[in-house]
Amino acid sequence: MRAYRKIFSLEKLPEGSKVQVEVDGMEIGLFRVNGTVYAIDNICSHARAPLSDGELDGYEIACPLHGARFDIRTGEAKTAPAYEPVACYDVKVEGDDIYIAL
Ligand code: FES
Repeated sequence: MRAYRKIFSLEKLPEGSKVQVEVDGMEIGLFRVNGTVYAIDNICSHARAPLSDGELDGYEIACPLHGARFDIRTGEAKTAPAYEPVACYDVKVEGDDIYIAL
């Protein structure tokens, strides 16, 4: 069974926003789209740029360095030059608390 860890506050993640959160040395990107919170590894699989610094367009985040796009719902790499996905984490929200499964 995976353990959920509280990592952020829903109030600090308004609709359409994104943020990087560090958990146990891992950099996690959090995104809130259409009322749902998504969590993926924040480090691009191409050359390690921080994805949450990129532009969020619907359910896709564009890497700020070379523009590869990732689906924040799955971590899937949607466009070159990234071909490998990034990890995706289950999220639950209880009250104002955001948890991810690690
Ligand atoms: S570092 Fe992300 S596309 Fe190159």
